[in-house]
Amino acid sequence: MRITFKILRCNPNQEGATPAYKEYPVNTHPGMTVLDALNEIKWQQDGTLTYRRSCRSGICGSCAMQIHGFNALACERQVEPMGKKTIVLDPLPGFKVLKDLAVDMEPFYENLARIRPYLINDNPPPDRERLQSPEEFKWIEDPVSCILCSSCTSSCPSFWFNQNYLGPAAMLKAYRYVFDTRDQGAAERLEVLDSKQGLWRCHTIFNCMDACPKRIKITQGIAYLKRKAVAEKY
Ligand code: SF4
Ligand code: FES
Repeated sequence: MRITFKILRCNPNQEGATPAYKEYPVNTHPGMTVLDALNEIKWQQDGTLTYRRSCRSGICGSCAMQIHGFNALACERQVEPMGKKTIVLDPLPGFKVLKDLAVDMEPFYENLARIRPYLINDNPPPDRERLQSPEEFKWIEDPVSCILCSSCTSSCPSFWFNQNYLGPAAMLKAYRYVFDTRDQGAAERLEVLDSKQGLWRCHTIFNCMDACPKRIKITQGIAYLKRKAVAEKY
C-alpha cells in the first residue's frame, strides 16, 4: 500500500517558523508500524524530522504521540490495519512542543516525583527480597505494567488546563505504592494526593483509559485512592 503521512512540523527555536503539516508518502508492507514509517521518512526523505523512540517493542514508552487523533505508541500501531490512505501524526497534546513530535516531558516527571515513585520502607532489608503473597500482589498487578509513556496524562482535559495537576500517570504510580503491602509511605503520598492539584481534579472522564496502551484500569485506581483518602483522613 502507499500511505501518506501528514506530520505536524514545528520548530519553536527557529525564528518566524509556524507549525504546519508536511506530507510524506511511504510504501508500506504488512506489519509495518508507524515508527517504522517514521524511520523510513527520516532515513530516506527528511533527516530533520524529530521524534522519540528507543525500544521498538512497547516497553520504553518514549514513542507516544497522537496518531490520527488518538494517543498511542508509534512502535505498536500497525499502519495497514488502520485502513487509511492518509495518517495524521501530531505531538502529544497538553505538553510544550520541543520540535515536531518531541514534547517537553518535564511537567510529567515533576508531577511523578511529587508522589515519591519508589518503595518507602524504613525496616532493615531482609536477607532476600521483601515478599508478598499472590493475593497481595493482585492489588498492584495492573499498575506495575505502566511504562510511563504519558499517553494517559496527555489525554486528560484537567491536565491540558493545569500542568500542576498530578495527572493520571502520577496518581496511578501513587496507587501502585499506596496499595503495595511492603510500602510504608502511604500517609505522605495521601497528603500530596489529597490536595488542590491531586485526586479531586479527576472528573472520571475516562480519556486516560482509552489512551493507555497497556489497558490499565487507571480510573479504578484513582477511585480506590479517593476512597482511601476519605477513609483515612476525614
Ligand atoms: S498508565 Fe498507561 S498511558 Fe499512562 S503512562 Fe502508564 S502505560 Fe502510559
Ligand atoms: S519505542 Fe519504546 S515504547 Fe515505542
